[in-house]
Amino acid sequence: TSREPVRVNIRPTRHDLATGRDPNRVRIFDTTCRDGEQSPGAALNAEEKLAIVRQLAVLGVDIVEAGFPAASNGDFEAVRRIADTVGNRSNPPIICGLARATRGDIERCWDAIKGAAFPRIHTFIATSDIHMEYKLRKSRAEVLQLVTEQVTLARSLCEDVEFSAEDATRSDPEFLVEAFQRAVEAGATTLNVPDTCGYITPDEMYHLIATLRERVPGLRSGDVILSVHGHDDLGLSVANFLAGCEAGVRQVEVTVNGIGERAGNAALEEVVMALYVRRQYYARAFGLDEAEVSGDQPKQLTNVDYKEIAKTSRMVSSLTGMTVAPNKAIVGSNAFRHESGIHQHGYLRNASTYSIMDAQLVGVTTQAISLGKLSGRAAFRSRLAELGYELNDDELNRAFLRFKELADRKREITDADILALVSDEIREQ
Ligand code: KIV
Ligand code: ZN
Repeated sequence: TSREPVRVNIRPTRHDLATGRDPNRVRIFDTTCRDGEQSPGAALNAEEKLAIVRQLAVLGVDIVEAGFPAASNGDFEAVRRIADTVGNRSNPPIICGLARATRGDIERCWDAIKGAAFPRIHTFIATSDIHMEYKLRKSRAEVLQLVTEQVTLARSLCEDVEFSAEDATRSDPEFLVEAFQRAVEAGATTLNVPDTCGYITPDEMYHLIATLRERVPGLRSGDVILSVHGHDDLGLSVANFLAGCEAGVRQVEVTVNGIGERAGNAALEEVVMALYVRRQYYARAFGLDEAEVSGDQPKQLTNVDYKEIAKTSRMVSSLTGMTVAPNKAIVGSNAFRHESGIHQHGYLRNASTYSIMDAQLVGVTTQAISLGKLSGRAAFRSRLAELGYELNDDELNRAFLRFKELADRKREITDADILALVSDEIREQ
């Protein structure tokens, strides 16, 4: 990286100490069951949320935003059950509930989460002029007063309080700094920068985070954790998060498969795997010793168990009914498949020619080579060998010609098709 490394030394929290997690990792705050559920048609009932949160705990996320308890009695009950159960398993995640900056929301949220071993209240209010004028109909002074009052209330109930300045990235930076200063004075332990409308660019995010670290007390000393949240309206959310991490962010708010309001939220699997695959790059950006993230037992920049990613993705897709696009990074059905003959040939000689990560690392077991009209002889021979058949050159040539004829008519060739194609040769074997 051409940027100066930014080293962050976060004071270990009670949760870090109890679960043995590195305080300086990038914390994964999963909001699949809150912001993810805000995808049209993706509503989850309590049982479904519980199943997802159980799996998120196995995946190793640090914080689960289980819902918005003041939104409905059903959501209150779901959050309460999650706090009382998953929130008390061994090595539990923090269980968080969302609340607007009002007494009613904050008290309702606390009632829902207080049974967890590590509860968190996440309260928010908008700080952009457009939101304050048209949505809240409040002046800047009124908003600042609410930040002080409501964060103080939340902190009187719960030791772990996150404050979000909604639409932070379209807010006047001077006012954003003031709102965050107020939140820290009132006891917030995490400050979140939401890119609510998916508007910011990575470079702007980097500079905004640098400004906040410079100006807001508690961020440089590591007493307060800086977080980003973002939507994918311009397809930039993951890039924005990674730029934020380079500038000192140590919590990212993500959803599984990137589901969420409008174009969705930043995808958990993409941020996590970028931090893993490019760990040397991020080690340098974080001011770490490169030796710590190379070698046999590299230090992990997140707490996620990568091999649980594919299973978590499938579960969220089936319970929300939100199908994953085949070309979706990391978890799409084509993410680890190679189609063209040139790619297949290279991949079969050495997987690294066209692959930057091992599918099995994230729990994907699909075939790396898909057979179709672009496939070459090498891929065809290799698939036959995997199916247990070694043909001599003549047999292979005959079968390959038949394969190409079929591939011109049929988009994808299955194992059954191949076995039918080579049945003559097989019978003679
Ligand atoms: O997008 C957003 O601003 C939010 C906040 C409530 C954090 O989801
Ligand atoms: Zn959001």
